Amino acid sequence: MTLPAGLVGAPVEDLDTPALLLDLDLMEQNIATMAAAFRQLSAKLRPHAKTHKSPIIAHKQLAAGAIGITCAKLGEAEVMVEGGIRDVLIANQIVGAHKIRRLVSLARHADLLVAVDDARNVEELSQAAAAAHVSLRVLVEVDVGQHRCGVQPGEPALALAQHIERAPGLTFAGLMGYEGHLVFVPSLEERVRRVHADMQALIDTVAFIEAHGLPVQIVSAGGTGTALITGRLPRISEIQAGSYVFMDGRYQTIEGVEGACALTLLTTVVSRPRPDRIVIDAGLKTITCEFGLPRVKGRDDLELVSLSEEHGTVRLRDATVSLRPGDKLELIPSHGDTTLNLHEYYYGVRGGRLETVWPIAARGKSR
Ligand SMILES: Cc1ncc(COP(=O)(O)O)c(C=O)c1O
Repeated sequence: MTLPAGLVGAPVEDLDTPALLLDLDLMEQNIATMAAAFRQLSAKLRPHAKTHKSPIIAHKQLAAGAIGITCAKLGEAEVMVEGGIRDVLIANQIVGAHKIRRLVSLARHADLLVAVDDARNVEELSQAAAAAHVSLRVLVEVDVGQHRCGVQPGEPALALAQHIERAPGLTFAGLMGYEGHLVFVPSLEERVRRVHADMQALIDTVAFIEAHGLPVQIVSAGGTGTALITGRLPRISEIQAGSYVFMDGRYQTIEGVEGACALTLLTTVVSRPRPDRIVIDAGLKTITCEFGLPRVKGRDDLELVSLSEEHGTVRLRDATVSLRPGDKLELIPSHGDTTLNLHEYYYGVRGGRLETVWPIAARGKSR
């Protein structure tokens, strides 16, 4: 891949658009702030790399004290391992012969953890791992109220843990329970109350499994909105927060979550068809809106009102404001993860100038 690195040193305004800007000072500050908070907790941070899909950023998180990396997809994990990262949790079910072969192959080169919630999947993983003479560490995913994947707490979790323990090639390493239904609860007080209530089932399941003679080493949970709440609960050993590294627009609306938005999209005004309207060169193919429309950074007088494939329409609250084709604006994505998946590069910026260009190495790695 040829990097557009010839631009290094250029002022941001000189970059061609749309360009995904990463404010390196803010990202480093976000990493340092979360790392400092975790130094006070017994739970450790294992950041979710789906948020950045970039080994160089993962290495920065590890250097700040993270114990490993979390991935959503096997393809992401392959990129992270190729990028020199050894300790990787795939916080997802790896299902089907093709993927299981890839997983077992990757396990020869890394310390992998993988989530399961199904007995047949356990058998397939076991057969593949045993045949390849590798040992796979497995977490039982427990549904703590998100109602996505996961077995029910208590008996079903114990039964699956025992199944794993008997399976050749597999080691039962612990539990995972992602409280994704709570990470965006806006009120901090309500979030704390509901995390305490819902995570109790996971904590009780740890005790229940241990009472049946199986040690539960790892208990992994948490997102950015709950990291410092769940990370203080007894028996929780790892937190999988991801978004904290960039802090996207949606997280800016949540009470009690620290950090500044490090990711923006640089765009160019391409048209001013009416005094009260401009059109920019960023649409749905460069920025996502499932969490709401992006905001224009530092411009309360401008409101992005719609996105089509390659256009964004912006309303000017004051029609006398000077803005014309060629002028540049920055958008704050409401959802960083899905936005950056549309881009090839981060344009790493410091003090208003381009410092570096990094490929978004795991973009599109959905398999
Ligand atoms: C299983 C799992 N863990 C952790 C996270 C990280 O959450 P956040 O981006 O809120 O930090 C996610 C996000 O979707 C997730 O699906």
